Amino acid sequence: MEKIVSLCKRRGFIFQSSEIYGGLNGFWDYGPLGTELKRNLKDFWWRRMVRERDDVVGMDGSILMNRQVWVASGHEQTFSDPMVDCRICKSRLRADQLPEKNGRKQCAVCGSFDLTEPRAFNLMFKTFVGATEDDSAITYLRPETAQAIFVQFKNILEVSRKKLPFGIAQVGKAFRNEINPRNFTFRSREFEQMELEYFCRPEQGPDLLEYWLKERLKFYSDIGISQDLLHVHKIPPDECAHYSKGTYDIEFEFPFGIQELEGVAYRTDYDLTQHQKASGKSLDYFDEELKQRFIPHVVEPSAGVDRTTLALICAAFDEEQVTDEKGDAETRTLLRFHPRMAPIKCGVFPLLKNKERLVQQAREIVELLRPHMMVFYDESGAIGRRYRRQDEAGTPFGITVDFDTIGENGPANEGTVTIRERDSMEQQRIGLGEIKSFLTEKIN
Ligand code: GAP
Repeated sequence: MEKIVSLCKRRGFIFQSSEIYGGLNGFWDYGPLGTELKRNLKDFWWRRMVRERDDVVGMDGSILMNRQVWVASGHEQTFSDPMVDCRICKSRLRADQLPEKNGRKQCAVCGSFDLTEPRAFNLMFKTFVGATEDDSAITYLRPETAQAIFVQFKNILEVSRKKLPFGIAQVGKAFRNEINPRNFTFRSREFEQMELEYFCRPEQGPDLLEYWLKERLKFYSDIGISQDLLHVHKIPPDECAHYSKGTYDIEFEFPFGIQELEGVAYRTDYDLTQHQKASGKSLDYFDEELKQRFIPHVVEPSAGVDRTTLALICAAFDEEQVTDEKGDAETRTLLRFHPRMAPIKCGVFPLLKNKERLVQQAREIVELLRPHMMVFYDESGAIGRRYRRQDEAGTPFGITVDFDTIGENGPANEGTVTIRERDSMEQQRIGLGEIKSFLTEKIN
């Protein structure tokens, strides 16, 4: 994990937030490569979950909502972790994560047994809307994106004219004042979620839970996370949330342990019922086929953008021993991203930077590819070093314009470039006219 964190900083995937002021625990900034990676993930999720389907529409809700949303959903009362204070070192710790010695709970920081009784600590960030800071102005930064979907259910049903089963999808920020943010970006205080609320008739819920679990597992394999690194954990009924009639956690083998990436939960009609009761507005659905009016049930696949981004980096990270151009052994660090997810799809290199025709041809290739994908032009240093820099950034392909390309070695290979594949390091020659289709086919 240390190597991964260091690579993320060195290559500009992820930085500590407010680093020059000492940082802020649980907050992270994404640099140029991390931002592209995260964007590719969110775009592909949106494509799979919304654009390629007839039965899902999107929405984009506000982060702050009327406080009553959080009262009705139960978050104000119950969205909390049990917490204890250490009377010796004053650390505040999660009661359910304390080490034990001889059956007694111990402070994880100083080892003392002098701990307070557990108290519920609400994880929502409180804020005030408007100029006065009194109780009437209180609300919270949303701890999940899902509630915006539930409270807009009726509006979206009307404008989209969908029939059950259908879903509403959303990608956006969520905030939780986690007691112990840890494991890099895995448990943060500000993060993004990709959530789908899939509404259905009550009797369809159990089958749809299985259907969405399968769809979501396929998604992970389509972004290059191999099934061997994934685990499906069926939550025992007595550990499920009280409104859930079944939950699966999709877990990933992180270097720090097997941990949750996504929850797929059958939430019954709990949320819509709560909001209907609290708002007094009807949130039911008239089923024309059944000639019945009822509150739809919902199955929710809820994934974390930051956790999946971290999983993509962990799954892709590799080091291997190779021989450099001088015949010396060296360690090649690379990120074996699926081309679909890779922040940069292709590096373009003129063999020499002081040979105008090579540079001009390489720049033309960049212009040809730029409208279709993220490309990176690099003319500095030995070609081997340039390849290595792109290996570390996870760039799946590298194109080199050499003397053959411009016909200086005779006509045999004129108008062709070498294309190098990151994982195998194999090179082949292809024609200038084939470059675009070769790459677009691989990255889509
Ligand atoms: N609407 C359901 C819901 O929010 P959750 O299991 O609490 O369920 C869903 O969260 C996903 O959001 C998690 O599987 C995880 O990927 C992500 N997530 C939750 N808390 C997080 C945190 N503190 N830091 C990063 N990601 C988090």
